[in-house]
Amino acid sequence: MRIGILGTGMVGTALGSKLIQVGHEVKMGSRSANNEKAVKWAKESGPKASYGTFADAAAFGEMVFNCTAGTVSLAALAAAGGNNLKGKVLVDVANPLDFSKGMPPTLTVCNTDSLGEQIQRAFPNVRVVKALNTMNCAVMVEPSVVPGEHDAFVCGNDRQAKDQVTEVLRSFGWKWIIDLGDITAARGTEMLLPIWLRLMGHYQSPNFNFKIVR
Ligand SMILES: NC(=O)c1ccc[n+]([C@@H]2O[C@H](COP(=O)([O-])OP(=O)(O)OC[C@H]3O[C@@H](n4cnc5c(N)ncnc54)[C@H](OP(=O)(O)O)[C@@H]3O)[C@@H](O)[C@H]2O)c1
Repeated sequence: MRIGILGTGMVGTALGSKLIQVGHEVKMGSRSANNEKAVKWAKESGPKASYGTFADAAAFGEMVFNCTAGTVSLAALAAAGGNNLKGKVLVDVANPLDFSKGMPPTLTVCNTDSLGEQIQRAFPNVRVVKALNTMNCAVMVEPSVVPGEHDAFVCGNDRQAKDQVTEVLRSFGWKWIIDLGDITAARGTEMLLPIWLRLMGHYQSPNFNFKIVR
């Protein structure tokens, strides 16, 4: 598959590299056409990797990952362009974290709304699937970093889109994937971040994950 990655941070880089490793072609997008980190990543990642603007990556991808800072995701997606995203599966990995007042960050949206829903409302023709935002990016792309059984969550309004994302997650090694229902479930997965951040402080490591026991 051709996949567009919006974002040049650690998440975009980790997902881009993993997607290439499992056989896809990936274009990494940013605000500028020649972002230094994107150029470096593409150079190191071989012929299946390329880079460009957010719009270039969105147009390229059959599936697109939003790996931008949550506070600017709507702006990044606007730059990517509704027409370039139309009808496509958009995997929203972002968390609406505001670091402007220091640590710990606060959620810019919660309880009655979520970033996943804001994105779905702003781009009604895009099939938004919220996924992978509840673990560190090293765990996202290599679940065996955390031993034993542990879970990934998906939610979104389009069943087929969730199936496609689930297939990609399985190719990363995810075995336990819980479908939480429509995109309003993003409220819950985004609101896991305050406890996730506390746990990281407690364990002094980001290499852990949630496991649902029943
Ligand atoms: N770190 C993790 O392990 C982890 C785990 C789960 C979820 N997440 C979430 O994943 C997302 C990506 O995290 P990250 O640490 O890799 O990257 P990040 O630093 O949060 O975001 C980097 C991206 O945001 C873009 N950006 C910054 N300001 C912008 C603006 N004003 N307008 C448009 N785009 C702008 C940057 O564009 P340029 O490329 O042009 O600079 C860059 O591509 C975040 O939402 C984060 O909460 C992170």
